[in-house]
Amino acid sequence: MHVTSSPRGEESNSIKLANRIIDQLQVRYPDSSLSINNTVEKNYIHLNEIHPVAYRLPDAEQTPKQRDTLYSSDLAVRELIDADIIVISIAMYNFNIPSALKAWIDHVVRAGKTFSYATGKPEGLLKDKKVYLAIASSGVYSDGPMKPFDFGEPYLRFILGFMGITDVTTYRVEGAGIPGIMEHSLEKGLESVAV
Ligand SMILES: Cc1cc2nc3c(=O)[nH]c(=O)nc-3n(C[C@H](O)[C@H](O)[C@H](O)COP(=O)(O)O)c2cc1C
Repeated sequence: MHVTSSPRGEESNSIKLANRIIDQLQVRYPDSSLSINNTVEKNYIHLNEIHPVAYRLPDAEQTPKQRDTLYSSDLAVRELIDADIIVISIAMYNFNIPSALKAWIDHVVRAGKTFSYATGKPEGLLKDKKVYLAIASSGVYSDGPMKPFDFGEPYLRFILGFMGITDVTTYRVEGAGIPGIMEHSLEKGLESVAV
């Protein structure tokens, strides 16, 4: 599954980078199928007053209104559970992930479905999944003075780990706004991909 978060379509560096990862995965796994989850188009709603209550109820105890409200969350959870490999393309916005991607996270981090507190401590329920992060930014965050200010990548690693996904690899197209680096940033990012 490719989860996208840039509204820029073909122009998007994060999507170009993710597509390079996917091309290589498709060579490795020729029988695999690809689904796309465009979080910008999906426009997952912000959690409203119904979600916190309904999220705590077993499916069978939800009212029809609660079930309707959770429809897109339930679907997003199913898509995530069904995916063996997840490529997430991330446009860095304000030193973090785009809100469209955060909204998807708020729809898939579900007690009893993707994590559990049943034993008293949190346990991720998603096992044996691989995630690739494809991050695009104007600045450079893999190293150097701005490294501490990429709040998106550590957050994604944490929240994926919270759901049980610990096998996470990051690729970047970075420095696309810095003269002297920008001229080769896309090429360098694409060439770094080796899955
Ligand atoms: C609203 C907005 C906020 C941005 N914030 C940052 C930022 O905090 N740091 C950074 O290095 N680049 C930032 N950028 C630049 C984008 O990360 C860069 O253009 C990147 O290529 C976007 O990903 P995309 O090409 O997949 O759309 C921002 C761009 C926009 C439109």
